[in-house]
Amino acid sequence: MADSDDVFAIRFHETGGPEVLVKEPIAIGDPAPGQVRLRHKAVGLNFIDTYFRTGLYPVELPGGLGNEAAGIVEAVGAGVRDFVSGDRVGYFTGPVGAYATHRLVDAARLVKLPDGISSEQAAAAMLKGCTAEYLIERCARVEVGQWVLVHAAAGGVGSIAVQWLKAIGANVIAHTGNEAKAAIASGLGADVSLNCPMEELSAAVPEATDGEGVPVILDGVGAASWNASLASLARRGLLVSYGNASGPVPPFDMLELMRRGSVFVTRPTLFDYAATPEEMRASAARLFDMLQSGNVEVRIGARYPLADAAEAHRALESRQTTGSTILLV
Ligand SMILES: NC(=O)c1ccc[n+]([C@@H]2O[C@H](COP(=O)([O-])OP(=O)(O)OC[C@H]3O[C@@H](n4cnc5c(N)ncnc54)[C@H](OP(=O)(O)O)[C@@H]3O)[C@@H](O)[C@H]2O)c1
Repeated sequence: MADSDDVFAIRFHETGGPEVLVKEPIAIGDPAPGQVRLRHKAVGLNFIDTYFRTGLYPVELPGGLGNEAAGIVEAVGAGVRDFVSGDRVGYFTGPVGAYATHRLVDAARLVKLPDGISSEQAAAAMLKGCTAEYLIERCARVEVGQWVLVHAAAGGVGSIAVQWLKAIGANVIAHTGNEAKAAIASGLGADVSLNCPMEELSAAVPEATDGEGVPVILDGVGAASWNASLASLARRGLLVSYGNASGPVPPFDMLELMRRGSVFVTRPTLFDYAATPEEMRASAARLFDMLQSGNVEVRIGARYPLADAAEAHRALESRQTTGSTILLV
């Protein structure tokens, strides 16, 4: 394909703030065996992108960003049987480098987008929604009637998780950083919506759960919520610490888990729960069912041109976003 100004990626040559992101022309060749060439329509913005950019998760430099995008198949390499030119597809398990107008991707990473799911919806929902899927259904295995505390409940993963939990019959305590976000979480169906300081959270939770504490906590905030989450758990409860939005959880004393009531802690990642093409596609199929049945609605809070990715990072890291943010190509 012809290279031009229209074919570019957002890359970084050093780790740091959003200012390290630069727009660079790229050359895309023909797909190798097993690959397809994609023209992206929309790219998902995820908090993990900021971890790579800052160096919290080390990558080789110069590097690209982004694990998730949706678009159109332009060409297929030898041996690719499941996809043809013109197919609408998406991916959400990397490899890193989705902040680009075009890309070569292994066909094994792709899912076909069902009719009725737009590229924008797919880029907004796949990574965050499949995270909600595995956290709720395969990691915590939440049961009907169980209370679940969801941090950052108006955010990308959080807003999908609240709706998902309600759809399967769980009870949700949502925690958010301000009143407007608490109202969003209530609108998503949360039974209790709190926006108190973290230090006050464990006192508010027993009130909602008849003094028991919560059996499951979904915590993507990390450092800032760690103590509040531990203090809010029910005896033998499970703290699923799945993110570092406020920084990584510092090292802790194992005996603390005993003192808090023989509690469990896990620190999972999507990349282990969608490790094979079969797991990845099963997770996506479950998500698409949830979206198409109307049980879960993906809310796109903001759209930025791909070239303005740095602006989108600033908004995400300063807690200004709600729902999903996408980068448009
Ligand atoms: N392990 C996995 O498999 C996996 C997969 C996907 C995402 N994640 C993690 O899930 C979390 C959510 O990701 P997302 O992309 O959906 O982001 P997001 O929830 O839309 O944005 C992060 C939210 O975290 C809260 N937050 C609290 N303290 C913060 C701070 N100091 N700085 C920034 N944000 C802070 C804010 O909500 P409030 O203002 O309401 O507190 C903020 O809006 C991230 O930690 C991400 O790494 C993990």
